[in-house]
Formats: sequence, C-alpha cells, structure tokens
Amino acid sequence: MNLVDKTEKTFALTTPLYYVNDVPHVGSAYTTMAADVLARFHRLLGRRVLLITGTDEHGQKIQRSAESVGKAPQEFCDEIVPSFVNLWQLLNIQYDRFSRTTATRHEAIVKQFFGRVWEKGDIYQGQQKGWYCVSCEEFKEERELLEGHRCPIHTNKEVEWRDEQNYFFRLSKYQTQLQEFYQSHPDFIQPESRRNEVLNFVEQGLQDFSISRVNLDWGFPVPTDPQHTLYVWFDALLGYVTALLEPDDEPTLENALATWWPINLHLIGKDILRFHAVYWPAMLLSSGLPLPERVFGHGFLTKDGQKMGKALGNTLDPVALVQRYGSDAVRYYFLKEIEFGKDGDFNEVRFINVLNADLANDLGNLLNRTLNMVKKYCPGDALPIANEAIPAEHPLKTIGLRLGEQVKRAYEALAFSHACEPILLLVQASNKFIDDQAPWSLYKQGQQQEVEKVLYAVLESVRLAAYLLSPVIPNISNDIYRQLGFGINFNDRIKTSIAAPFSIHATWGVLSSKQQLGTPQPIFKRIEPPKND
Ligand code: MSP
Repeated sequence: MNLVDKTEKTFALTTPLYYVNDVPHVGSAYTTMAADVLARFHRLLGRRVLLITGTDEHGQKIQRSAESVGKAPQEFCDEIVPSFVNLWQLLNIQYDRFSRTTATRHEAIVKQFFGRVWEKGDIYQGQQKGWYCVSCEEFKEERELLEGHRCPIHTNKEVEWRDEQNYFFRLSKYQTQLQEFYQSHPDFIQPESRRNEVLNFVEQGLQDFSISRVNLDWGFPVPTDPQHTLYVWFDALLGYVTALLEPDDEPTLENALATWWPINLHLIGKDILRFHAVYWPAMLLSSGLPLPERVFGHGFLTKDGQKMGKALGNTLDPVALVQRYGSDAVRYYFLKEIEFGKDGDFNEVRFINVLNADLANDLGNLLNRTLNMVKKYCPGDALPIANEAIPAEHPLKTIGLRLGEQVKRAYEALAFSHACEPILLLVQASNKFIDDQAPWSLYKQGQQQEVEKVLYAVLESVRLAAYLLSPVIPNISNDIYRQLGFGINFNDRIKTSIAAPFSIHATWGVLSSKQQLGTPQPIFKRIEPPKND
C-alpha cells in the first residue's frame, strides 16, 4: 500500500465516536470542544486540518437502549444522532467529518480490515468467560469490580457473567512489539500519568481479547462466520479510518488511507485509554499499517466527585448551558478552568465567577473603556501611533513579544489552561498599566502623544489576547477584532490563516497608525449569579 508522505502542513485529529444510547452530555462535549480548539489553532498556523467526530452505534448497549423505548436500533440511532450534530453546531464546533458506524461504507472498511488481520492468522475461535460491563462494552477483571459485582466506572451497574464461544484477537503476540514502540515513541501516550498506566498494564502481560459476540444482532456479522457479530470496539475504532474517505471515494482501505493516515492525534477520555493505546495499535500492527502519532487521554468531568455520565444519571445538559450562557462561555470555562488531562468538577457558581472575572471584567471592560478613551481623547477615532514608536522594554510589549511562542507551545502540548493563563495575565497587566498611566490625567496635561501611546499599547495587547484566545472563544475574538477595525472572521476556517497568519498576528505590534477603530460595544455581558444559591 502506497501511503502519501504526510507533511508538517497537515493535521488530522479525532474525538471518540460517541455512543448514541442517549443524547450527549457535557462529558461528551468536553472532548469535542478541546478537539475543536486544537483544530482551530492548527488552522491558524496555516495547516490543513481534518477534524473527525461521529457516533458509535452498534453493540449491546445501544440495542438495549432501543429496546427499552420499543424502537428498532437503526431508527433509534437515527433519532439520537441529530442531537449530537445540533450540539456541535451550538458549540461552534467546526468538524470536517462525521463518522457513523452504521454507514454502509463503514462495513466495507471493517470487512477489509478484518480480512487483513485474519490473513495474518491473528484471529482464532475460543471460549470467553468473564464479567462484562454493557455500559463500558468491556470485559472486566474480577479484581477490578466493586462490591456486588458493580463496574468501577458505572458504579450503579452490575456486570454480567458471560460464557460463550467468541473469536479472539491475538493481542498477546504484540506485547513486545508494543513495548518497543512505546519506548521508541515516548510521546505516543499523553499525559505522562496515562503513559505510565498503559506501560504498567502492558507489563503485566497482555491477554488476547474477544472480538465477536453471540446472541447479539446489532452489529456487523463476522465476515468469516456470520453467526457471530463483531465486537463493537473492533468496529468502532475503524470508524476513524472510514472517516478519512472522501465523499465520492470507493470505500476501500487504500482510498481511506491515502491522504490523512496516520492520524496525528486521538483525543479521548481516560476510560477508553486501553482501547486506543493498546488494542488499536496492536490491531494496526497486525494489519501492517503505521500507528497514529499520539493518543491523549483527558480526565473526567465530575459532579460532586463522581464521573458525570448517562449511566449514572448525574449529567449536565450542555444544550441548556449553551443556550443560557453562550458557546464561548462554555468553551472558555471548561478549557481554561480544568487542567487538560486531570479531572475537574463542575460548579455553577464557580462557572459564573470565572466568566465574569475574565471575560466581562478583565477583557471586556478593558476593551470598552480603552475604546471609549480613544473616542474622547483622539481626533478621528484613530491612533496615529505605530509599533516602532513603542520601545521593546515597554512593560506590555515585553510580555506581548514573548506571549505568542509561549501560547503556541501550550496549545501544542494540549495544555489549554496554560495557554489561556498567560494571555489573561497580559490582559490584567494592561488593566493595571492603564490605571497607573492614567491617560485621563495625561490628556489634561496636554500630553497627547503619551495618551496615544498608552491607548495603543493597551489596545494592541487586547488584540493579541483576542487573537491567541480565538481558538477558544472565536465569537468574542471576532467582536474584539471588529471593534479594532479588522475585517477578520475567526469562524472562517479557510480565510483566517491567510488574512491573519499566526506568524504575524501572534506577535505584538500589529495595529497600524492608520487603523480605523470601531464603536465600543460590550463583548460579554456580566452574568447575574442565581439568587437562591
Ligand atoms: N463509543 C466509545 C468510543 C469509541 S471510539 C472509537 C465511547 N463512547 S462514550 O460516548 O461513552 O464516551 C465518549 C467519550 O466521552 C470518552 O472519551 C469518555 O471519556 C468521554 N466522557 C464520557 N463521560 C465523561 C465525563 N464525565 N467527563 C469527561 N469525559 C467523559 O466510549
């Protein structure tokens, strides 16, 4: 198979393909928001990006959910899928592919892939005995279980005993190869804590895993033995490959892998780490395909310390949250406030406080009052100052000149909160600067040029902050850029990197002396805290 050499100029990333047993909750939205932020960042760098998301629609869990409401599984899935599509739209997610595992062309890809692994002699029949969690769609070790045979993740669900003929994948055969791969690719699993978790797990010895089920209709038949149904994970992981097909492509593995493979990043939650960092690479090794570049396992969103999830019924409705506070607010809170990789608790009071402090007060007020000062003190609403008039030692310029690189490194490392924090520090420094410099007094003293320099330095810092935050809060960044006189739309995924390339707009000093500044308007309305909290 001829694989096109991938260059630095492309970036393909995936979210998990979400189970459609219910409408999405904030946990599912979390990965997708992070993926979108990263995709937008890579687009700003001028890369061609492919963001893949989608839905995982087969298996027992979905079949039972459909049965419980008296629907046929396909009909049930078709009704749930739009709730994901709608939520991604509400959250301003710019995905490029939406992969549904019930798509006909997906079956063709799964069949071909199965064929390669079969030919390799890595699939055999055996007897599977063990405890199965339908919510995880995974066999559990007896020692992992909680009291009363409950799943450690879905703590209110009892696992079920299975003793059946299954087809197995020879995972054990790939133990050494996988270990060598992890050693030679230390960045493959991130963050470090997850890498260690995987290394420990693999070191304990890998056991073959079953890739088919009996007594289950909802899934693809095993190509060599249609009495059996393919295990949902074997089918779902390949959804990433199917997603790479162009709309008019024949559904062949060769076509799917031609342009974007290997995928640069699989973004997932920590509960599905083994599937992505152990099973999936082994399946790919067996089929002779190159492995993805990186798997990043983020933490759980919790409510009162427990994983938020459909099975536990303690979810937060993302639609209501976005409708109430807007997409930028929701994106900002989850990415800025929770260290990506660690667990984070959601608390509405904290949510409101952070948004008010950062977006309404620090950023919004700063822009608003500075633009108002321009209106008041500067003839023609313009600042006839150029970057060159401000020395490199200027307190805001000094921060600004280093910021782009620092934020770039943070985004590249998926350290979203570390990307946002220094940007906010520049904003706070700008607020302090304007208070210290008191341009209203300078104006009274007739120091017009000094007034203009102060206002220029502050507005340029706000601009830089807006640019660097644009992957997280694109709508607010649009508003700021518009008020600063730019005709740039951060939601335009093609034109933005040409009109405002990172190499230029991520440095301090872009506002020109001819900049026609716009009318000041609030960019984020202060949220009133709920009364009875
Ligand atoms: N269908 C599988 C993935 C197959 S990928 C080929 C699946 N789906 S899921 O809908 O249950 O979960 C999808 C993702 O949402 C996982 O990465 C999971 O970690 C994430 N989250 C689900 N609940 C979550 C939280 N409470 N917090 C953060 N993320 C969570 O697994």
